Amino acid sequence: MPGYDFKVRPQKVDTVKTKYRRIKTKIPHPGTLAAFKELEKYEARSMHGQLPVAWDRAKDFQVFDKYGNYWIDFTSTIFLANSGHSNPRIIKSIQKQLNKGLLHSYTFVNEARLNFLKKLIEITPKQLEKAFLLSAGTEATECAVKLMRLRGRKIRPSKLGIISFKGSMHGRTMAAEMLKGNEASCDWIGYKDPNIYHLPFPYPWLSADYYQKYDWKGYFTESMEELKKKGLKLEDICGFIIESYQGWGAVFYPKEYIKALAEFARKYDILITFDEIQAGFGRTGKLFTYQHYGVKPDLLCLGKALSGSLPLSAVIGRREILDLPETGSMSSTHSANPISCAAGLANLEAIISGNLVQESARKGRILHSRLDKLKKKFSKRIFWICGKGLVAGIILGGPRAEESGSIFASKVCERAMQKGLLLVHTGREAIKIGPPLTISDEALNEGIDVLEEAMTEVDKEAN
Ligand SMILES: Cc1ncc(COP(=O)(O)O)c(C=O)c1O
Repeated sequence: MPGYDFKVRPQKVDTVKTKYRRIKTKIPHPGTLAAFKELEKYEARSMHGQLPVAWDRAKDFQVFDKYGNYWIDFTSTIFLANSGHSNPRIIKSIQKQLNKGLLHSYTFVNEARLNFLKKLIEITPKQLEKAFLLSAGTEATECAVKLMRLRGRKIRPSKLGIISFKGSMHGRTMAAEMLKGNEASCDWIGYKDPNIYHLPFPYPWLSADYYQKYDWKGYFTESMEELKKKGLKLEDICGFIIESYQGWGAVFYPKEYIKALAEFARKYDILITFDEIQAGFGRTGKLFTYQHYGVKPDLLCLGKALSGSLPLSAVIGRREILDLPETGSMSSTHSANPISCAAGLANLEAIISGNLVQESARKGRILHSRLDKLKKKFSKRIFWICGKGLVAGIILGGPRAEESGSIFASKVCERAMQKGLLLVHTGREAIKIGPPLTISDEALNEGIDVLEEAMTEVDKEAN
């Protein structure tokens, strides 16, 4: 990541020995260095820059290297292992499917796909009637854009406008990149899709008066007026795509803002897609994060914790939207792989039978009340605490991306790693937390203690 390079050099660190953490060697262990070097040689550098821990295995809410060190995991890899790493139910289901001897079936019928789809539609809100399965989250984004435009075109040939939010994350393929509204990350494309528009994100800190008192409906209306001034005709908008919370800092939209957006969408016959790829499946204490806003989407993009393991993503929505493409015209070689579907089914069962959505809400109260205290302790460092349930973003420094905030965040992540805790390294002025929803209360509290310890040390060293 630009800004701060983690030391891929074995560091002598204090020994740690608790029920959940064990650090007994230099970190990273010297024996893992060859793998780092070889990957540097063989793999594109864009894949690198992560905390220097070589994962050997992961179980529930812990990660293990080969040399007897283990960590409490506050990352869920990257918001994927909601039902716990190597969930036994998922492993068993994968093994059963493997033993059958069907590794792939393209779009030929297979039972694993049917069973998974039935479960998915059964547990999701009623208006979401059909699904299209894919492998990566970014494919789901592309598909949602296509569906929104296909529907728009049916109403009027010029109804192709998609509105997204500046600074959002929807993936790394072309439409997904263009949706981010980040000039630098789109530079390589060489042109701009004239039918993609961006709204400024309604950051809670935009209002000196805080969230509730700000006229968020007015803010939405003003932002739309700005787009109109740039030539957008409202009747030409076919869809909004909304990352359910903004990824880098787990930043939620004000509820009033999303309600105003939904009202506007209904008035102008515009579809609403929520990108739940990171936010779905209990992460924020509801099955889907959009449910915090009290609106009904037309489409959802799903991925990551949809399977909690193997590559699997989906777009789900109303029947008439999902059935817009002609028979045979929307497919992918690897969509609905039977092994991924077997994993997905077991994962959904684990989430429901383990009450993990409710558990996320309950443990989220522990997490957020402790982070509020941390904010008071580090009032000069911590600018805002974002998130709900078992996701949190500790925003450092100030309302804008400040180099000092991002370097401090990286150093805290590195120090926590040396103490047996893995945090999400964002490369920005935010430290992100997202443990598996199965984490025990004791391990959650211990992890937060370690975070506090790491912050205290890095703060002292900086002063
Ligand atoms: C909100 C959101 N949308 C889309 C994606 C892209 O998913 P994938 O990396 O599986 O393509 C991500 C990945 O981080 C994400 O967080």
